[in-house]
Amino acid sequence: VKVLSVASECAPLVKTGGLADVAGALPGALAPLGVKMRTLLPGYPAVMGALGAPEVVADVGDALGTPARLMAATVAGLDLLVLDAPHFFARDGSIYLGPDGRDWSDNPERYAALCWIASELAQGRIGPWRPDLVHCHDWQAGLAPYYLRGSGVPTVMTVHNIAFHGLAPAARMAELRLDPIDYSPEGYEFFGRISALKAGLVWARKLTTVSPTYAVELMSPEFGMALDGVMRARRADLSGILNGIDTDTWNPATDPEIRGYKSASGKKHNRAALREELGLPEADGPLCVVVSRLTEQKGLDLLLAALPALLARGGQLALLGSGDGHLENAFQAAAAQDGVAVRIGYDEALAHRLIAGGDAILVPSRFEPCGLTQLYGLRYGTLPLVALTGGLADTIINASPAALARGVATGVQFHPVTAESLATALDRLCDLWEQPKVWAKLQKNAMSHPVGWENSALAYSALYEGLIA
Ligand code: ADP
Ligand code: GLC
Repeated sequence: VKVLSVASECAPLVKTGGLADVAGALPGALAPLGVKMRTLLPGYPAVMGALGAPEVVADVGDALGTPARLMAATVAGLDLLVLDAPHFFARDGSIYLGPDGRDWSDNPERYAALCWIASELAQGRIGPWRPDLVHCHDWQAGLAPYYLRGSGVPTVMTVHNIAFHGLAPAARMAELRLDPIDYSPEGYEFFGRISALKAGLVWARKLTTVSPTYAVELMSPEFGMALDGVMRARRADLSGILNGIDTDTWNPATDPEIRGYKSASGKKHNRAALREELGLPEADGPLCVVVSRLTEQKGLDLLLAALPALLARGGQLALLGSGDGHLENAFQAAAAQDGVAVRIGYDEALAHRLIAGGDAILVPSRFEPCGLTQLYGLRYGTLPLVALTGGLADTIINASPAALARGVATGVQFHPVTAESLATALDRLCDLWEQPKVWAKLQKNAMSHPVGWENSALAYSALYEGLIA
């Protein structure tokens, strides 16, 4: 099967969140199953700079009405197609935001251009290569299934996060190559505007999201972000396929950022090194870590409120994150307390040291389509304490009395997602910490829990096969 994957970010070239990890991991995960995946990316400076000596596949300036070329190169084992369109992508700084911290006002046109090229490519109008199907990620790829309507080319639309709708004013229909006839509640119209995500959800042949629980949640008003009706209408075509993690990059035995370990007892050197690095003293309670975007989604305001419960038990917090200014400031202020260390920024290497050195990793998200850091935690014997939602519900086994009795628990879950119940969960975590044998068993379970791509790669491959059969 030949698949064109369309994504706005892809690790290790350009990343703002888990979408990049998944887009970067899928080709390698699927290759052993006979899926040949090429990934179409925007030619941001970070991507262009990584290409080395790319092949020019075609001049696509006429198709876009601005100078543009489609390039091909292999980078980090990824078979890339890159849309080099300087007018849209040759911008420094964040890939989505301008210097004022707001979305670039032409984001709809930037990603429409990417989708148009995906559609032309899939219909054999650019160069010799042609995929059997197109796999689209999030709103940035949402117009591709629309452009491919009626072409016979099968499409899959994956929702990594339904909070981002890809909205544009209705007046931009022509620029975005949208037929006004489809500007309706059954089409791409969304409360008086154009939604690229909705176009993808309506016109893709199959829909997926990144965990089974989020697939169900998406159909509810609480989580569907006003697209739950569309999701319900497409229930028969929707499935949830869990993300995996890159088990080479995230391998405690071989991780170059840390003192490697095979069993959880090896964590103690890393914990000591982490405390020293962050200026945290020895403590009686567990060292809890967070690696996260700082946004409403992640529920970290709840952690600020519940923090006294952890500190009162002798626990500590080390957080790495960046995002909303008010959360950055609030955490920086919290770092004045003993037992709290905060690093604002984006730092892959520190993320590894935190996850290796921490005793527990906290993910109190209000919603979480899948979540990757709790999976890193499992693999490193760093017990996840997570909200009972989305992929966090699907990947962690709560240390309930029954699960403890059966010896299968891997972490702590809490519900409802409130500061009070998070505080109670932190207390439960400290109770477990005070029972070293129980804690060691939880770590052992966590470290043997499967977190790779094997099962999910089979599910994607079966989905593709079904579409081209
Ligand atoms: P989301 O995509 O919603 O941000 P995920 O848990 O799926 O959540 O993925 C987040 C990814 O980004 C993980 O690989 C995580 O380690 C990484 N990450 C988030 N914030 C930072 C940071 N400040 N520094 C380093 N890595 C980060
Ligand atoms: C999104 C979600 C996250 C998920 C990631 C990759 O950014 O917020 O839960 O793990 O996409 O699918």
